[in-house]
Amino acid sequence: FMGPPGAGKGTQARQIAEKYGIPQLSTGDMLRAAVKAGTDVGRKAKAAMESCGLVTDDIVVGIIADRISAADCKKCFILDGFPRTVAQAQALDSMLLERKLKIDHVIDITCDTEALVARITGRSTCAGCGEGYHTEHKKPKKAGVCDKCGGTLTTRADDNEETVRNRLSVYDQQTAPVIDHYRHKGAFKTVDGMQEMDTVFKNLCAIIG
Ligand code: AP5
Ligand code: MG
Repeated sequence: FMGPPGAGKGTQARQIAEKYGIPQLSTGDMLRAAVKAGTDVGRKAKAAMESCGLVTDDIVVGIIADRISAADCKKCFILDGFPRTVAQAQALDSMLLERKLKIDHVIDITCDTEALVARITGRSTCAGCGEGYHTEHKKPKKAGVCDKCGGTLTTRADDNEETVRNRLSVYDQQTAPVIDHYRHKGAFKTVDGMQEMDTVFKNLCAIIG
C-alpha cells in the first residue's frame, strides 16, 4: 500500500490482514518497535524518525529482507510504508525475483493534504493490540481505552502538525517518484482515501478479492 502519511495505509492494511489472514509488514511499526526495544537498528533509526526524515535504505531493506524470509510470508504479505524510495523499490524487485515472488497489486491510497494533517494530529493507537483510533473519525467508547482489548491508547512522537508537514514534504520529494516506478508495470491502482473508512475497505477488497 502506497500513500502519504495519514492516507489510511495502516488502518486498511490491518483490516485486510485480518480478513484474508495475511501478514501486514509495516516498516514504520517495525522501526518504532526497534526504537522502543533499543536494538542496534532502533538506535540507528531513531534520529531520522525524530527529524521526520527517512531511515536509510540499507536499514529498511534489511528489515524487509529478514521479514519476508519468515515462514508466514511464503505465500503472501502486505507491504505498508515500503518501498519509500526508488532505491528501495529496486531492492524489492531483486528480493522478489530471488524468491520467485511477484507483486499482485500496488495500491496508492490518495488523500487531500489538509485532511492528512487533521487525521494525523487526531490519531491514537492502542499500545496493546495496535488498533488505531481518531478523535473525530473513530472515537473509542471510553476515552484513552481500546475498545478491542482494553489497552491504553498512545500517540506517536511524530504526530504533531509541524512534523506532519515535514513528513509530507519528504513524501513529495522521495516517495512520490516510487509511484512512477510502478505505474507502468500493470499492477498499479488508485483508491480514493477521502471516502469513509468502510468504503475504502470495500474498494480494496474488490481489488484484492
Ligand atoms: P510510518 O509509520 O509508515 O508513517 P507514515 O507513512 O508517515 O504513515 P502513517 O502511519 O502516519 O499513516 P497511515 O497511512 O498508516 O495512516 P493511518 O491508517 O494510521 O513511518 C514513520 C516513520 O518511519 C517515517 O517518517 C520514517 O522516518 C520511518 N520509515 C518508515 N518506513 C520507512 C521506509 N520504508 N524507509 C525509510 N524510512 C521509513 O490513518 C491515520 C489516521 O486517520 C488514523 O487516526 C485513522 O483512524 C484515520 N483514518 C484512516 N482512514 C480514514 C478515513 N478514510 N476517513 C477518516 N479518517 C481516517
Ligand atoms: Mg501507518
